[in-house]
Amino acid sequence: MSGVVVVGAQWGDEGKGKLVDVFAEKADIVVRYQGGANAGHTLVVNGLKTILHLVPSGILRPETTCVIAAGVVIDVFSIREEIRRLKDSGLLQNPKQLMISDSATIILPYHKALDAARESALSEAKIGTTGKGIGPAYEDRAARRAILFGDIFDRETLYKKLELALQEKNFLLEGFYKLSPFKIDDLMKDLEQVAEELAPYRAKDNSLFIAKSLKSGKRVLFEGAQGTMLDILHGSYPFVTSSSTLASNACASTGVGTNSIQKVIGVFKAYTTRVGSGPFPTELHDEIGKKIQADGHEFGSTTGRSRRCGWLDLVALKYAIRVNGITNLALMKIDVLSGHDRIGICTSYKLNGEIIFDLPTSPYDLEKVEPIIEWLPGWKEDLTKIKSLSDLPRPTTNYIDYVGAQLGTPIDVISVGPGREQTLWVKPLFNN
Ligand code: GDP
Ligand code: IMO
Ligand code: MG
Repeated sequence: MSGVVVVGAQWGDEGKGKLVDVFAEKADIVVRYQGGANAGHTLVVNGLKTILHLVPSGILRPETTCVIAAGVVIDVFSIREEIRRLKDSGLLQNPKQLMISDSATIILPYHKALDAARESALSEAKIGTTGKGIGPAYEDRAARRAILFGDIFDRETLYKKLELALQEKNFLLEGFYKLSPFKIDDLMKDLEQVAEELAPYRAKDNSLFIAKSLKSGKRVLFEGAQGTMLDILHGSYPFVTSSSTLASNACASTGVGTNSIQKVIGVFKAYTTRVGSGPFPTELHDEIGKKIQADGHEFGSTTGRSRRCGWLDLVALKYAIRVNGITNLALMKIDVLSGHDRIGICTSYKLNGEIIFDLPTSPYDLEKVEPIIEWLPGWKEDLTKIKSLSDLPRPTTNYIDYVGAQLGTPIDVISVGPGREQTLWVKPLFNN
C-alpha cells in the first residue's frame, strides 16, 4: 500500500507545505488529516507565494486530488476565502481537485470568540493560541455536540444543532465572559451562503475513496499540520494544540488502516522555532537567535507573530522519531544557517544536575532542562542556488552527516530555499 505521512518533527512551521508540494508531483492524492486554520503552509512556485491554511498543499498540482479528512476542524468562512483566492488566481479550476469530508467538524464564530476569551482570561499563563477557535471546536467534537461539515447542507438539522449549541455558548459568552451573544438567524443566513459556495467540494465518504484508491495502487500523501511537540497527548502540554499531530493520527483521522502506511517522513528545520508560549530548551535570547529569525524570515504565516528561535534540538528530534515512527527525514532551511562561525546542536539536557538523553515527559521538567550544546564549524557560502549535494560546502556536509548519524535515521531530502526547485533530492518518495 502506497501511503506516506509527512509529519512535523518539531514545534510546527518546519516546511511541511513546501515538502508536500514537492512530493505531490508523485502523489495521486494529498490528505490533510488534522488541525484547522491554525496551520499556515507556505508554497513557493516560480517565485509566487501561496499560503494555505486548510486546503492541502497538493492543490498546485492540478492532477492531484486534495482531501480534507474527518479529523480536521474547518472554519467554513476561512476555507471559502481560501478557495476564492485559489480560484481567482486560476489555481483551482476544477472542483474535483478538492474533496471535503462530510464528517469533519466545523468551526463557527463563537468558537473563535471563546478561544480569544479563554486566552485573555489566562492573562500571564496564555497558551498563545492562534485564535482560530481550534480548542473550542475539538472540545465540541469530544463532547459529541459538534456541527459537522455535512450538516450545513441540511437546513433543519443545522438549525436544531445551532439552537442547542447557542444556548450554551451564549450563556458562557454573555454570563461568564461578558461578551455579546451570537444570533441564530445571522448565523443561519451566513451558513446558507457558505453552503452554496462549498457544495461542489462536498464529499460524503473520503475514507472509502482513499481505501479504494490505495487498493488500486494510487499513491496517497498524508499532510500533517503543527508538529510533534504540539501534540495534545505527547507534546509540551498544556502549551500544545488540541489535536493529535502525530503520524499515527493520519490513519485515525482519515479512517484508513495503519497497514496503508509505507513511510513516515519527519520534517525538521536545521534549527528550532516555536510560536506561542511554552518550554523551548534551546531557545536563543541573543543576537544569534535574532540573526536566525531574520535570515529565516521566522514570522508566522497565520498570525504574523515572530517565531522564537534556537539551535537544533536532537533530544526533541529523537523523541519525535520515536513517537511518530519516523522512517525518513527531510532537513529544511539549511541555507538559513550560512554566516555563523560555529553552529550549535543540542545533544542532551541537564536536569537537576544529571545529564539526560531522553525528553522528559513532565512539562515542569521540560521548563527546567538546560541544553548541552556541541559545536560544529560554520560556513559562509550562500546555499540557495546549489543544485547538487556534491556542491555543498564541506562544513555543511559535515553538519548534515553529523545530524543524520546522531538521529540514526536517513535524511532523504535537503532543502536550500523556499522555492520548489530549491530541493536537493537524496531518495525517491514512493518505493513503487
Ligand atoms: P509549515 O507550516 O511546516 O508548512 O511551514 P511554514 O510555511 O509555516 O514555514 C516555513 C517557511 O520557510 C515558509 O516561509 C517557507 O516558504 C520557508 N521555507 C521552506 N523551506 C525552506 C528552505 O529550505 N529555506 C528557506 N530559506 N525557507 C524555506
Ligand atoms: P503549522 O501547520 C506553529 C501553536 C500556537 C500555540 C499552540 C496552540 O503551520 O506548522 P492553537 O491555535 O492550535 O490552539 O494554538 O499551537 N500552533 C502552531 N505553531 N505552527 C502551526 O501550524 C501551529 N498551529 C498551532 O502558536 O502555541
Ligand atoms: Mg506553518
